[in-house]
Amino acid sequence: MHRILILGGTLEARRLAERLRGRADAAITLSLAGRTANPAAQPVPVRIGGFGGAEGLAAYLRAERIAALIDATHPYAATISANAARAAAAAGVRLLALRRPAWHPTARDRWTEVPDASAAVHALGPATRRVFLTLGRKELAPFAAAPQHHYLVRSVDPVDPPLPVPHAIYLLARGPFAEAAERELLLAHAIDAIVAKNSGGEATYGKIAAARALGIAVIMLRRPQLAAVPSVASVEEAAVWLDHALASVAARGV
Ligand SMILES: NC(=O)c1ccc[n+]([C@@H]2O[C@H](COP(=O)([O-])OP(=O)(O)OC[C@H]3O[C@@H](n4cnc5c(N)ncnc54)[C@H](OP(=O)(O)O)[C@@H]3O)[C@@H](O)[C@H]2O)c1
Repeated sequence: MHRILILGGTLEARRLAERLRGRADAAITLSLAGRTANPAAQPVPVRIGGFGGAEGLAAYLRAERIAALIDATHPYAATISANAARAAAAAGVRLLALRRPAWHPTARDRWTEVPDASAAVHALGPATRRVFLTLGRKELAPFAAAPQHHYLVRSVDPVDPPLPVPHAIYLLARGPFAEAAERELLLAHAIDAIVAKNSGGEATYGKIAAARALGIAVIMLRRPQLAAVPSVASVEEAAVWLDHALASVAARGV
């Protein structure tokens, strides 16, 4: 029985676990950072919490005799992805990254790409706007510097403490979000700018498509640079990779 560790916290990680759980030759564990109070149910055993940096992860890989590591974390989770690359190299464990391709603007999209949340604040400009913030709740602090805007903030867990601005409405929701409902939401709140991450995938694309249809500006945080490791874009490709990885582990007897 080969032990496989999936670094998760994404829909793809859950789908990959679902895809792999029937394998008779592999025991799958999914790892979560523990960011959300009520994480989504997972189809395989879960461990929760940080490992203690790359060294901690390498120690875990050795102690648990992990045969293959699949980094299926969010494209903006740069620290854990760098740690995975270092830890896998240190422990001699095969590593694959499952990364969603980024979205690309069409001719009808009105995107401004910025490096981070502070630059997004700057891009909103000084005049009052009605802004839909779809960043993680821990990334909102820079918007306190622009209290002139009206904010609609959506997050999985409550934003606590709330932003120190006079006009903010908070929505608690977990994706996926369909385009039609996103369109209604944008219209209901008279939104004229969305601040988003280029998450890729379909679950959160509805707001981008709705913004395009309504001519709403999108301020898009650029993706961070991630370690150059073997990577695939789909759950199916990851499953095929695992077949090869486990065959080579079995052939080598390690
Ligand atoms: N960043 C986003 O926009 C975003 C969006 C949706 C979901 N997520 C998910 O939320 C989690 C945390 O994201 P983040 O941006 O805070 O990551 P990060 O900045 O790259 O990671 C920070 C630290 O959190 C721990 N960690 C992160 N992912 C982990 C995992 N799957 N299992 C165990 N420990 C993990 C690690 O702690 P140690 O160093 O102690 O090991 C890591 O050094 C990830 O699983 C990611 O897939 C992130």
